Amino acid sequence: MPLLEVKNLCKQFGGLTAVDNVDFRVYTDQIKAIIGPNGAGKTTVFNMLTGVDKPTSGKIVFEGIDISGKKPHVITGLGISRTFQNTQIFKNMSVVENVMVGRHIRTKNGMLKCMIGLRSARIEDSESMDKACSLLKLVGMEKKANKSADDLPVGERHLLEIARALATEPKLLLLDEPAAGLNNEETGKLAEVIYKIRGGGVTVLLVEHDMSLVMDISDEVVVLNFGEKIAEGPPLLIQQDGQVIQAYLGQAVEHA
Ligand SMILES: Nc1ncnc2c1ncn2[C@@H]1O[C@H](COP(=O)(O)OP(=O)(O)O)[C@@H](O)[C@H]1O
Ligand SMILES: [Mg+2]
Repeated sequence: MPLLEVKNLCKQFGGLTAVDNVDFRVYTDQIKAIIGPNGAGKTTVFNMLTGVDKPTSGKIVFEGIDISGKKPHVITGLGISRTFQNTQIFKNMSVVENVMVGRHIRTKNGMLKCMIGLRSARIEDSESMDKACSLLKLVGMEKKANKSADDLPVGERHLLEIARALATEPKLLLLDEPAAGLNNEETGKLAEVIYKIRGGGVTVLLVEHDMSLVMDISDEVVVLNFGEKIAEGPPLLIQQDGQVIQAYLGQAVEHA
């Protein structure tokens, strides 16, 4: 059984078809990528997978459960977590607190109890702190734990969001353009982080424009163009696909 199955997924915004009858599957332990030109519908797919946008039609099945149109917190609870193309960092919090925010959905004690300071809440909080620090270590940011999140450069904001998304203990992690704003060295580190995440048993689906990263780390690639899937397969085949080169890769190379 695939971990995630997307069937005939459609999303319309008024007269615009942003996602048009898209099908794909993600299997446990895969690193899978979705690529395509700007406006192809990639983020909209992520928004439907995480309950931010309701599908107009079609189905999303996760571990055999139909999650189409379910609320974001329900989907997070079932094991799908994400980062955002435009990072969503709490600027008035420290780096480690930003990770702990993600952890709250997994702890029995809600925010309110933590603030009141009940003993059990405090114990859970120290566990959350330990867990958050180990996640920061995983993304190579443990030394920045107590820094203000506002001071982080773009690349580290993405890494922080990855740590926060992992704090919900997902089975499937969705990354929306995690290499945006990163230099080559940082992108290399990101690839290692993604491998480590997969090594830890988390399946990864990423949207990304950095083609060397995509082709290096992905087991399979889905290509969207104007909302439609135009190709799907292993990176080597995708790189040679005439339709993909015409729609996307040709320009990506020219602009690189
Ligand atoms: N909330 C929305 N309302 C109206 N149109 C939207 C909305 N979200 C996305 N779109 C449109 O849907 C299309 C796909 O957008 P998006 O999924 O962000 O593309 P990508 O991530 O591939 O660049 C674009 O034409 C975009 O303008
Ligand atoms: Mg996008």
